[in-house]
Amino acid sequence: MSEVRATSPQLEVLPAAREQEPVMANLLELYAHDFSEIRGLNLREDGRFGYEALPLYWTEPGRYPFLIRVDGSLAGLVLVKRGAGISGAEVVWDLAEFFVVRGCRRRGVGTHAALEVWRRFPGVWEVRVMQKNDAALRFWAETISMFTGEESDGVAIEHGGDAWVLFSFESRGR
Ligand SMILES: CC(C)(COP(=O)(O)OP(=O)(O)OC[C@H]1O[C@@H](n2cnc3c(N)ncnc32)[C@H](O)[C@@H]1OP(=O)(O)O)[C@@H](O)C(=O)NCCC(=O)NCCS
Repeated sequence: MSEVRATSPQLEVLPAAREQEPVMANLLELYAHDFSEIRGLNLREDGRFGYEALPLYWTEPGRYPFLIRVDGSLAGLVLVKRGAGISGAEVVWDLAEFFVVRGCRRRGVGTHAALEVWRRFPGVWEVRVMQKNDAALRFWAETISMFTGEESDGVAIEHGGDAWVLFSFESRGR
C-alpha cells in the first residue's frame, strides 16, 4: 500500500488500454459501492456489483476509457461515450462515469480531470447527476461554471424513474 501525498499532486488522465480492463473493473467496484448508498444497487452472488458495458469500451467506436493517476498512483476513472443526448441535442459527448477515490478527494483532482477530458473532446457535452447525489451536484455546478465561465445549475429531469439534473454545455477544445 503506498501513501497518498498531499502537496502539489501531479495529475494524469491516461487512456486505459485493453489489458487494463481488470483495473478499470476494480475501480468501478469502488465507484458502485459509493453509489449503492444513494442508488440501492445490489451486489451479485459473487460479491461484486459488476459493470456489464465495460468490455464495449474497447470494442465499440465512440467509447473512451481513462484512468486518473495522482503522483503515478491510481486515483480514479473516467468513461466517455459519444451518443444521442437526452437534452434533445443530436450527438453529444456523454460523461458516462466519473470517479475519484476517497483518499484523493477535495484536492482538485476531479476538477482537473474533468477539465482535461472536456478539452480533449470539442463539441456539446452532457453530464447527468442524480438529484440525491448532493456532493456530485455541487461538484459539477462548480466545475462546469469554471469551464464555461458562466453560472450553471443544470436542468431538472426525470429519467428511469429517478430525479436527475442535466448539465449541457459546449467545449471548444484546447
Ligand atoms: C464528485 C467527485 C468526482 C469530486 O471529486 P473531487 O476530486 O473531490 O473534486 P474537487 O476536489 O475537484 O472539488 C471541486 C469542488 O467541487 C465541490 N465539491 C466536491 N466534493 C464535494 C462534496 N463532497 N461536498 C460539497 N462540495 C463538493 C467543492 O466546491 C469543491 O471545491 P472545494 O474543495 O474547494 O470546496 C468525487 O467526490 C467522487 O468521485 N464521488 C463519487 C462518484 C460520483 O458521485 N461521481 C459523479 C457521478 S455524476
